[in-house]
Order: sequence, then C-alpha cells, then structure tokens
Amino acid sequence: MDTIVAPATGVQFPESIAFSGFFKPVRIEADVYDLEVEGEIPPRLTGAFYRLGADAQYPPRLGRDIYLNGDGMMTMVRMENGHADLKTRFVRTERFKAERAARRSLFGVYRNPFTDDPSVAGKDRGTANTTALFYGGRLFALKEDNRPTELDPNTLETIGKTDFGGKLTGRTFTAHPKIDPVTGNMIAFAYNSDALVSNWIYLYEISPAGEMLREERFEAPYSSMIHDFLVSRNYIAFTLYPMLADLGRLKEGGPIFAWDTSQQTKIAIIPRTEGVAGLRWFTSPKLCMETHTINAWEDGPVLHLEHFISNSGWYSQFPHLTDPNPREEPPFGQRWSFDMSSAADSFAVTPLTPHPGEMPVVDPRFLMSRCRHVFFGAINTDLGPMLDWGPMGPPFNCLAHLDQDTGALSYYYPGPHASTEEPVFVPKSDDAPEGDGWLIGVIGRRDQQRSDVVILDSMNLAAGPVATIKLPFRLRYAFHGDWAPAADLGWTAPTD
Ligand SMILES: [Fe+2]
Repeated sequence: MDTIVAPATGVQFPESIAFSGFFKPVRIEADVYDLEVEGEIPPRLTGAFYRLGADAQYPPRLGRDIYLNGDGMMTMVRMENGHADLKTRFVRTERFKAERAARRSLFGVYRNPFTDDPSVAGKDRGTANTTALFYGGRLFALKEDNRPTELDPNTLETIGKTDFGGKLTGRTFTAHPKIDPVTGNMIAFAYNSDALVSNWIYLYEISPAGEMLREERFEAPYSSMIHDFLVSRNYIAFTLYPMLADLGRLKEGGPIFAWDTSQQTKIAIIPRTEGVAGLRWFTSPKLCMETHTINAWEDGPVLHLEHFISNSGWYSQFPHLTDPNPREEPPFGQRWSFDMSSAADSFAVTPLTPHPGEMPVVDPRFLMSRCRHVFFGAINTDLGPMLDWGPMGPPFNCLAHLDQDTGALSYYYPGPHASTEEPVFVPKSDDAPEGDGWLIGVIGRRDQQRSDVVILDSMNLAAGPVATIKLPFRLRYAFHGDWAPAADLGWTAPTD
C-alpha cells in the first residue's frame, strides 16, 4: 500500500464561487427523523425521494476546480403516513476512500488524471455525483465519466460499481439514460469510453433485470461533451456540439473541454430497430449547445426533438477557445422537427419557452411519445429578482409548467431569496392523465442557509406547495433525482 501523509495544515476551502457562500461544501452525513412538515404529504407519496449532487469532501488539490468535480452526496427523504425522514450519505467511491484516508485531495482537476497526486496514478477517479436512478429495484449513482455505482436504496450504503454482468464494455456510462415506458428497458450511451478522449459513442440497451440486451457503437466527427440524448419510439438522437475534448490540453494540466466555434453542431439520428447501420447526420445551421433534453416523439414521418438549447457554453464551466470574452446566453426550450421521409439535411425550429430555463421533466409514463405537459426551472423576472450567480450561472427563481396544447405557462415562485432545483415527477395514480402528478423538489433558501423539500400539485403550481418538508440545514445544490415507491423498497404498499 502506498504511504500517504496527511497534511500538517487544516482544511480550508477556497473563496471561489464554487466553494463559498451558498455553494460552499456541506459534507454533512445526516439522519434526521420526523422533519417538520407544513401542509400534508399526499398518501400516494409513500416511498423515497432521492437526489444526487456534488459535495466536495476536501478542498481542491490544486486550489482550483469546478463545481462538477465534487464527491457524490446522495439525499433520501423517506415519506410514510405524513412523516418524512432525511438521510444523506457520501457515495463511498474508491476516490472518496483514498482521500478520506489521506485527509486531503489526491485527485486533481475535473476529469484530468494528469493533475493527480502520483500516489493515485491509475486509480479510479469516479465521483458518482450526477443522477440518482432507481431502476429494476436498484439504486444507482451515475456520473458520465465512469461506470454506475450501486447503493443500498434503504441505507444508502455503497455496494460498488456495476458492469451489468460483465457486459458493459466501456469505462463510462451516461448520467441520462432513458427508461422506455413500453418495454421497461433502459436505453443508454457512453462517450470517451474507450479512452480519455475518443470519437466513439457507445449505445446500450439494458433490461430491468440488469441484462445487457444490445451494444453498438458509432464514430462522431469530433470528441466532445455529450451530456444528454433523446429517444422516441423509433429513433435515438444525439445533438453534438463543439465543447471539444483535447488530450494535449489535458496533458498540460488544462480543462478537458473548451468551446470551439470553428466546429459545427451536428445531430445524429439512429433508427432504433436498424441501429447504427441506419445512422443519419444532420448539421445545425446555427452553432448551439444542447443542455438538457425534454422528450422526443413522432407524428407520422416527422421526428420532434424537444430540448433546451443555448448559443454558447452557458452552464458549461469551461473556457471558450476562440473567444476570450464570449457573450454568454442562457438556454431556452426548442422543438426541432425532422421529416425523416425526406433526404434533406434540414429541420424546423419552434421556440417553446419565453423564459430562460433548464432541468426539464415530463411524466415518465409518456416519455418517447408526445407529452403535453413540461416542467422546468426558469428565470422569470416578472415574479421576482434574479438571484446572484452561482457556479453554474444564474439560478432559477421559479418552477414553470408549460401546457403545450394551450401554450399556457404557470409558475411556482418560492420567494425572493430562494432558488429551485430539478423536481421529480410522480403521477397521482397509476392511471392518472399525462402530466397529472406531484412534483417533489429541493428549494434553496439562501437567506436562511437552509433547504426545503416542496411537494407541488403539477396541475396547480401557482397554489404553492401542498407540503413543505423543512430541513434543518442547507443541502448543497444538486442535479438529478428519482422516486421509489415503498412497495419497490420492501415496505408496506401505498394506501391509496
Ligand atoms: Fe444532467
């Protein structure tokens, strides 16, 4: 075993935007029973709400880093008979355990192994910090530069990394797999998976039992960040944007990604049945970046891709290669429509949202077919002031509901010093209409250095929460979550 010496000095986080103020690492592993609840938790919500984020255990090794490189911290709020209990746990990755033993950071900047302490050369750098996914009765912590890590869904103890029975060929796995509501299978992808920097993109299909059903790969025109993708009933679609990866820059200790306006935005559309043999490439007439996707669906031969699009690397935390002073622009929702019966390299663009927004969710029972109702974090300055920028740009000051049939927008506004995170959608019953459910999400109370979990009626956001679960401390802003019903966790079945 390597000899690792703990530093003689104490721990101190830098004063940079990613490590100070409301975004300072929290690092609290807690069990709090019977949180204060205002209002009433709906009986349907008997189960566990999970969300995963980055919460740095130690200050960055080189004194600088981005928010995304923190250690995975899983939050669970277990709800039962109107009661709510909180549990937070770090994911015990190999990296976490090595740094805990050394009492300092050993791994360097985001996704750059050339900046690591020599004692951890070749060791697993995974942070497992992006998406909590409950699938097939298992809880996974996903991060796109590593394989999934499995946790016990009741205790949050780390079980370990999975390779789906040895069938996961690449070293990485997306944080945004799509669960097909018809087949129950998981459609997933991986990039930079056969090497630190690679043009190859892997496609996977996995059953709820964890069996690898399909593996294919195709080559992209460049190696770039690919955070999300889209799946309709008959197609898989990637929007590739030139947030380019560069091995030479990594070797010099630089960031893995940089925005390069000399390249174009490309769209890859793959028929699900035929696979990569039927791949078609399209070129966007405008350079842009997909931040997160909403949904994909088909109307006859027309494939609609709905997603949030920005014209620059907003939210990226990475430099611009060709413009030292870029005009940063926030993302807006757009629908891109492709006539797949035509050979033309073109598509129509329809704006979806009047406000900047991001972190969208739809009713997961209707994913891959048209969803009338879309929920997303938004910045609507008619409701209240824009909050101070955080490490990923200006935070959302509301949750928005877009009714795509009427075009109507409605909002939940949590107050002048509060910001919203991506909510989780739970239908009100198994046969509730599309979009009729509960939204569960964390609200950051900046003026109180504290967080709440709110439960909203998705069809009546403006009425405010039906229940507010008050947390006694601040949770660090996190990314993506999930819901597990009690019956799938081995508890008593829901009572509705
Ligand atoms: Fe994401």
